[in-house]
Amino acid sequence: MKTEQQEVFEPPAEIIDDAWVKDWRATEAAAAADPQAYWEARAGELEWSKPWDKVLDESGAPFYKWFTGARTNIVTNAVDRHLRTARRNKLALIWVGEDTSKVRTFSYFALNREVERWANILLAMGVEKGDIVTIYLPRIPEIVFAMLACAKIGAVHSVIFAGYSSEALNARIDDSESKLVITADGSWVNGKVFPLKDIVDAAVKFSPSVENVVVVRNTGTDVTMDTVRDHWFDDLAKLPIAKGHCETAQLDSEDPLFILYTSGSTGKPKAILHTHGGYQVGTYTTLKYSFDIKESDRWWCTADPGWITGHSYLVYGPLLNGATVFMAEGSPTYPYPDVFWQLVEYYGITALYTAPTAIRTLMRFGDAWVNRHDLSSLRLLGSVGEPINPEAWRWFHHVVGKDRCPIIDTWWQTETGMFQITTVPTMPQKPGSAGRPVFGQEAAIYDESGHEVPDGTEGFLVLKNPWPAMMRTLYKDPDRYVETYWEKYPGVYLTGDAAKRDEDGYIWVIGRTDDVIKVSGHRLGTAEVESALASHPAVAEAAAIGLPHEVKGNAIHCAVILNTGYEPSKELEESLRQHVAETLSPIAKPDGFDFPEKLPKTRSGKIMRRVLRARALGQDEGDLSTLENG
Ligand code: PRX
Repeated sequence: MKTEQQEVFEPPAEIIDDAWVKDWRATEAAAAADPQAYWEARAGELEWSKPWDKVLDESGAPFYKWFTGARTNIVTNAVDRHLRTARRNKLALIWVGEDTSKVRTFSYFALNREVERWANILLAMGVEKGDIVTIYLPRIPEIVFAMLACAKIGAVHSVIFAGYSSEALNARIDDSESKLVITADGSWVNGKVFPLKDIVDAAVKFSPSVENVVVVRNTGTDVTMDTVRDHWFDDLAKLPIAKGHCETAQLDSEDPLFILYTSGSTGKPKAILHTHGGYQVGTYTTLKYSFDIKESDRWWCTADPGWITGHSYLVYGPLLNGATVFMAEGSPTYPYPDVFWQLVEYYGITALYTAPTAIRTLMRFGDAWVNRHDLSSLRLLGSVGEPINPEAWRWFHHVVGKDRCPIIDTWWQTETGMFQITTVPTMPQKPGSAGRPVFGQEAAIYDESGHEVPDGTEGFLVLKNPWPAMMRTLYKDPDRYVETYWEKYPGVYLTGDAAKRDEDGYIWVIGRTDDVIKVSGHRLGTAEVESALASHPAVAEAAAIGLPHEVKGNAIHCAVILNTGYEPSKELEESLRQHVAETLSPIAKPDGFDFPEKLPKTRSGKIMRRVLRARALGQDEGDLSTLENG
């Protein structure tokens, strides 16, 4: 593990002087000696209406419980407690539209007013504690209000990324049996309207559970409103029921806060369940002590709230820390490739947290777009969602950060809820390494049989300690929870990633070991893409794999067996691509296709993706002895 991996960037002195954690070695050692004491002290920095009896209850492991017996609500800590201090008047949220002349700002006081309006409306619509509310909204302030309003009254939000198709949305609504869906008329995507309400109409047509749909006016597009089921938020907000104070429900620490669907290896998406108590401690702590966020920061996390990064570090983490959240509706290159830099400069962003795909995309437009802006407000940069290649890391560090801003690479998952491996800003940075386990965590790299591999050897990345923001289960599927994460190596959490550790204890994440593909940082299952393709009339059978891609990290490549009467052609490929976009999501569009006679399968009928990958890359196909049909 020499060459690039030995490249080390030392943290600037001013970062260390000002940091929450000046001596990361000491904090790491103290937390390692007694992780529960570490987490208990962090929890003590937040408000609880009744203290916990126990920090960690392992009696039902791997169904761990945190801060048992305590009463709390994440909204008490993310909003309410700030209202009793001078933070009441500071900006909680600055939102800029895709048309950057559209700006909306909310102090903590105003944020609370909006959340109370939403919460009052939800209560008046009969939403009760434990009910699941589906939120299908774009990156507009209302998504934050709606999430917080659900949490405030003890309802459970299920946010679906507003780029999913009606079929995908329908499957998630039905699985969660939501009675209420919150959406908008449309969203802006590169100057065009994406018809969210039409998609919801198609999705809920056959959903027996949905009683009400609340619609936020966003694009001003004409939509069809069902007179009984659909309600404009604007109209509801004018009613007396929307007015006045709404008490934040004090809940059990282990009461559910949200479910979030994510892709797995096989079958339908799984719903990851997170709870109030542990999740608030985990997201608050990691943003503060790992990322070094202060309340003086103007924090921009470019993720969509539809993904876990948006949940933990756009909505909850920064508000728990009393920081100012900056939220942009648009994409990094629309209308010009310097829109990010223009926003950083104009709004004085101090910390920018984004994905390697965005960095690589912007890098390709050249340095001049960055250099025409004054980015001196930035002090910290962050990366998430996929491995960052050293070239992109260096560009981000040098061209954007002017060699002064540490890059906090954060490795984590929907399941983990909070960072698990990071480079704290006061730690030496190694381009391409996600760094070290967060305080209180211990990671290891195992071989197939559960032995630790020597440093520098690739193996399965596992986490050895439970942590407060860990998922509690897979909603409605506890067996799959145990089987997917805890069975391969009993007592340790299987991440699904391959990684190496170097001699300094830094982890180098390589990528997924299962049938999950990270495309532009978005998590997709091969099974979802395959089933979308299989519903196209030309397709008899399909197999999807991920192939390395310069900008997106991975691109989806599909081997498709055609039904008789269909011939491969460019038009057919385009039709397949469109079909996947419409039945799953535009983010899942395949890049390339092969049309073989047969798919390589084992004798038990399992598709040999390894062989497909080798064929697509023109590499040696390796051992084919288990192949059924050559
Ligand atoms: O493969 C890892 C990759 O993203 C996966 C988790 O995806 P998701 O649940 O969508 O959450 C993404 C945002 C937290 C992981 O199993 N991944 C995430 N962050 C990194 C990463 N790979 C390398 N480096 C990272 N910093």
